[in-house]
Amino acid sequence: MNTQVPAPAFDPKQFLRVEEFETAAYARMTKMASDYFRSGAWDEHTLRWNVEAWQAIRIFHRAMIDVSQRSTATTLLGSRSAFPFIIAPAALHKLACPEGELATARAASRRSVPLILSSLSSTGVEEVCRAAKDVDVWMQLYIGKERSHVLDLAARAQEAGCTALVLTVDAPVWGVRERDIRNGFCLPAEIEVVNLMRSGRAGDVHAAKGGLSGHSGAGIAEAFGWTIDASLSWKDLDWLVSKQSLPIMVKGICRSDDAERAVDAGARGVLVSNHGGRQLDGAPATADSLEAVADAVRDRACVIVDGGIRRGTDVLRALALGAHGASAARPILWGLGAGGEEGVHRVLELLQNEFDLAMALAGCASLSEITADLLVG
Ligand SMILES: Cc1cc2nc3c(=O)[nH]c(=O)nc-3n(C[C@H](O)[C@H](O)[C@H](O)COP(=O)(O)O)c2cc1C
Repeated sequence: MNTQVPAPAFDPKQFLRVEEFETAAYARMTKMASDYFRSGAWDEHTLRWNVEAWQAIRIFHRAMIDVSQRSTATTLLGSRSAFPFIIAPAALHKLACPEGELATARAASRRSVPLILSSLSSTGVEEVCRAAKDVDVWMQLYIGKERSHVLDLAARAQEAGCTALVLTVDAPVWGVRERDIRNGFCLPAEIEVVNLMRSGRAGDVHAAKGGLSGHSGAGIAEAFGWTIDASLSWKDLDWLVSKQSLPIMVKGICRSDDAERAVDAGARGVLVSNHGGRQLDGAPATADSLEAVADAVRDRACVIVDGGIRRGTDVLRALALGAHGASAARPILWGLGAGGEEGVHRVLELLQNEFDLAMALAGCASLSEITADLLVG
C-alpha cells in the first residue's frame, strides 16, 4: 500500500503575507540553499535591523481625502512599473526552483514590474531578456580583477536588451556568512553562473570554471572570490561611465557623500543598500540611511532602497523618506522557492495590493502625495 501523502498543490491565494512564503520555500530547499538565501554576515544584526527599522517608522494618516481614484504606476529611470518597485538582483535563482530566473522574469512581466538581473544569475541574460515581456531588465555588475570582463558583460547585456546597468559597490571583499562556511557552500553540478562563462573567450570560461571547481567549500568568499576585487575605487566608476552608453545605477550606498560622489561621476541613480545585511554586519538599516541620501541626490538622480522591505507599507515608508522606489530580494526568492512563477507573481501581487491600500489608508491618491509629513518624528 502506498502510504505517501501527495504534496498539496501550490495555491497562491492561501498566502496572505509575503513572510508566509519564507517558511514554505525553505521547507522545500536543501539546507545549503536555504541557508545561502537566509544568511547575513557575522551576527546578522544588520539583517534583522533592516526589517525592524521599517516596522518602527510610524505612519500618520490624513483624514477626509477622496482616495477613490488611485494610481500606483510609476517609472524608475525610464522603466515602467505597476508600483514603485523593482526586483533586486540575487544570485542563483535556480537554487530556489529549476526554472530559476525565467520564472521570475515571467512573473515580473505578468505584474508589469521591472527586474535587476544578478551577474551571478543561473540563467543567461539573453534568455532572461527574452522571457521578460514588456518589462525592462537592468543588469547588475561586479568589477573583478580582470577589468575588461565587466565591459564584455555590459555589452552583452545591452545587446540582449537591458536598459540600465547596476554596479554593486558594497562588496570589495565578501562578507562572512557563517552558515555558508558551516555548510561548505558550493554550487550543485547542474547550476552555473552562466553570465560569467560565456563571454566568447575561452580564457574567460576557464577563469569562471576555475573559480568554482575544486574549491574546498569554505563558503561564498571562496566560491565567488574571483568575481570581485578589493582595489575597486571611484576611478573604476569614472572608467565604467566613460565606456557605457546605458544609464548606470550605483548599488550599495548608505552615505550622502558617497551618493553625491556617484552622481557627480555620472551615475543616474543610487540604490541605498547594505546587500541585505550580507556584507558589513553593524551597518545601519537602510531605512535609517535613506533620508540623508535622498535629500542629497533625489532631485538629480533616481533613488531606490532595498533591505527588509516585506510589506506594501514599507514601500510607502520608503517613498515618504524620499525614495522613488523600493526593491527586495528575499521575498522574491521565497515566492520562487514556494511556488515558482506563481509564487513570485503572488508576492508581487501582495506587495502591490498592500501598497495601494496603504496609500488609501494614509490619505494619498497619488504618489506625489506620499510626503515626509506622513511620518512621525
Ligand atoms: C541570496 C542573495 C543573493 C544576492 N545576490 C546579489 C547579487 O548577485 N548582486 C547584488 O548586487 N546583490 C545581491 N544580493 C543583495 C540584494 O540585491 C539586495 O540588496 C538585498 O538582498 C535586499 O535585502 P532583502 O533580501 O531583505 O530584500 C543578494 C541577496 C541575497 C539574499
